[in-house]
Amino acid sequence: MKIEGQHRRAIEALSDQHAVRIIDQTALPHQLTWLTLETLADAANAIKVMQVRGAPLIGATAAYGLAFAMAKSGSDASLEKGYDTLLATRPTAVNLRWALDRVRAVLQPLASKLRAEAAWAEAGKIAEEDVKANQTIGGHGHRVFREVLADKMGGGVLNILTHCNAGWLACVDWGTAVAPIYQAHDAGLKVHVWVSETRPRGQGASLTAWELKQHGVPHTLIVDNEAGHLIQRGLVDLCIVGADRVASNGDVANKIGTYLKALACKTHHVPFYVALPSSTIDWTIRNGIKEIPIEQRSAREVTHVSGLNAKGVREEVLICPEGTQARNDGFDVTPGRYITELITEYGTFSTNATDMRRLRLAAGL
Ligand code: MRU
Repeated sequence: MKIEGQHRRAIEALSDQHAVRIIDQTALPHQLTWLTLETLADAANAIKVMQVRGAPLIGATAAYGLAFAMAKSGSDASLEKGYDTLLATRPTAVNLRWALDRVRAVLQPLASKLRAEAAWAEAGKIAEEDVKANQTIGGHGHRVFREVLADKMGGGVLNILTHCNAGWLACVDWGTAVAPIYQAHDAGLKVHVWVSETRPRGQGASLTAWELKQHGVPHTLIVDNEAGHLIQRGLVDLCIVGADRVASNGDVANKIGTYLKALACKTHHVPFYVALPSSTIDWTIRNGIKEIPIEQRSAREVTHVSGLNAKGVREEVLICPEGTQARNDGFDVTPGRYITELITEYGTFSTNATDMRRLRLAAGL
């Protein structure tokens, strides 16, 4: 997608250097900083401290991270160390394990001296496939949007609610939940996006709002607690979010707060869509609520907020009595029955057993 009119990706391969360039997402929206990653430690750290985040981008970065490890040494020990180090960075987004498994499966049969090139090539393939999948998801989602708008009394503007950031910053390009918004907007559909701020880290406020502004998509920032009210008032035509891990029963783990939005949508008969590439589905998990690991994050993210002060300097402030205990689950799980459809690169699927089987077949698994 575009930054100040220039086409960029959230992760860009520097093939001559066997390195990648990423946007430091912890500095957005106030500063656009590109960082170069060239070692296993760089990649693992970027994922851990959330310079890169979002399930597909975590997967692509991890794949390059394994390639960096192989550039240092193609031994079995180096492969296993790289795999374990990267896998330990974040627990919920399954694209991480998916990408690492895929690169490792390519490397294992190869002689150690061939592994660095092969890993680099496989990471590149993962990145390219992500772009393609998300572009296709965008097309399917755009069609769904047109259908929802056609059913809307009086037509007009399609009001879309989204949560967290499932845009191009969360992927290699395009985004998952935001890809249909870009495609609909570019095709002339009148869309307006309610951007849920996404406490505690504020990915909606800092990343989705930034992306949509860059692309010129009309949007309004809301506090997370406003969504139910807007839905009840008929001001939301559909909700679309991304996913970090989808279980084989259709349960969806996504950023904390997603579940409440799905509940409100169900109550008020507002369609609730989840957009995801098939790399986000964990077919080994049968019950998402019971089995998807939920990341426990620092209490400091809840007790403090950070932003720019009047002098334009980033500052962090305490928002509760000092020493207040806080809990910070990074994700929640929305049961499949609250989801109208999953929008994937293979088309749209409901979360019933028949459709989930159909999706698995489509993915060739
Ligand atoms: O903690 P984050 O910022 O990595 O969480 C991201 C999300 O929850 C996204 O909605 C999800 O990864 C889908 S990204 C296309």
